[in-house]
Amino acid sequence: MAETHKPPEDFTLRMRRYDPESGDAPYWDEHTVKLEPHRSVLEGILQAKARFDGSIAIRCSCRAAICGSCGVRINGEPGLACHTHLDHASQATADGVIEIEPMGNMPVIKDLIVDMDVHWSKIQRVTPWLINKEPVPEREYIVARESMVDITQSMACIQCGACVSDCLSMEVDPDFIGPAALAKAYRFVGDPRDDQAQERLVDLAQDPAGIYDCTHCFKCVEACPKGVNPMGQIMRLRRRAGSDYHINDDNNGYRHEHAFVDNIKRNGLLHEADLLPDSYGGKFHPRAVPELLSSLPAITKAVARGKVTPRKALLHEHKADKHVRAYFDTIDAREERFELNLYISGYDEDSQSNDADAATPISAGDDGTPSAPGSSSQGVASEGTGSDTVEG
Ligand code: SF4
Ligand code: SF4
Ligand code: FES
Repeated sequence: MAETHKPPEDFTLRMRRYDPESGDAPYWDEHTVKLEPHRSVLEGILQAKARFDGSIAIRCSCRAAICGSCGVRINGEPGLACHTHLDHASQATADGVIEIEPMGNMPVIKDLIVDMDVHWSKIQRVTPWLINKEPVPEREYIVARESMVDITQSMACIQCGACVSDCLSMEVDPDFIGPAALAKAYRFVGDPRDDQAQERLVDLAQDPAGIYDCTHCFKCVEACPKGVNPMGQIMRLRRRAGSDYHINDDNNGYRHEHAFVDNIKRNGLLHEADLLPDSYGGKFHPRAVPELLSSLPAITKAVARGKVTPRKALLHEHKADKHVRAYFDTIDAREERFELNLYISGYDEDSQSNDADAATPISAGDDGTPSAPGSSSQGVASEGTGSDTVEG
């Protein structure tokens, strides 16, 4: 049945205006536009520009969530103006007014336009092209379908910068390579035609602003309008670096991850007091001493507030129950790790026998871990956010 559209309604847009060249401070500017509710916030901005103030600056091109140029913050959240309905944006606020600001972590050029050079320089940083293996085949590379499925999610990026806008690590450390560029890095690390996977991983692990500079805040996962799951791609880079190439980096990322896993294995729940010293090889390891000394102010505060006691920190018993240990034993006993790409779903037209699998993109095995559905992975990319790993 054909969709019936509602008649035009009034929507009030409150836009952040700023022209650095004017010397004036940023200010809020309000306009009311009249459009059908399913129209986009971008269309609202363009109507305000056409009818009320031609000086409103916004960057856009495709108007179809493809070119990535209309990234802004809408009601405080990063996203694409052309991919956000006016009615949804309006309903999300208490007073119905849609608030539009430029993206964060990048300097404002004018109004809603930011300088994307910050983003592009980080993309350049990860060598965003294939360094092919030699010899180059006479006709074409033949690669396993699973390998390409694995990198499809990172290939969906449209370089809009929404993830960069709200990356908390980048806010603290502007040098952090960041979610979009690291997702791009996985696109080549995971490509079996690339000859430099190990070199790329050593570089990204050893860089203090590299893969171990991400704090798992999930903000980039929520922000991405194309389901790229940048944090998931960073975790894949870490798994490749740590588990496949055993890159023991100078940033302590590799040792910290292993200390974390061992900590859970021994205690069932994370025992924070052990984590830092274990990451440096144990409480009495020479590497741990300077770290513990530099953490003394935080430790003193925690003791003063009763969050930790010296007895608890030093003499607690390790008490992971047998179920937790059983999980680790099951995982450790497996010979191969599968990277499951839940971004991909659909039907394999080549094989009727796979139809049943394809209808269920992911399923739980007898042991409770997800199992990949036959060759459904060849199907159509959908805008999911998931990608996951199981040891299998
Ligand atoms: S998960 Fe990592 S990369 Fe993503 S926004 Fe948070 S800190 Fe940045
Ligand atoms: S990963 Fe997503 S949010 Fe980040 S630049 Fe690419 S499409 Fe935009
Ligand atoms: S205008 Fe192209 S993504 Fe919005």
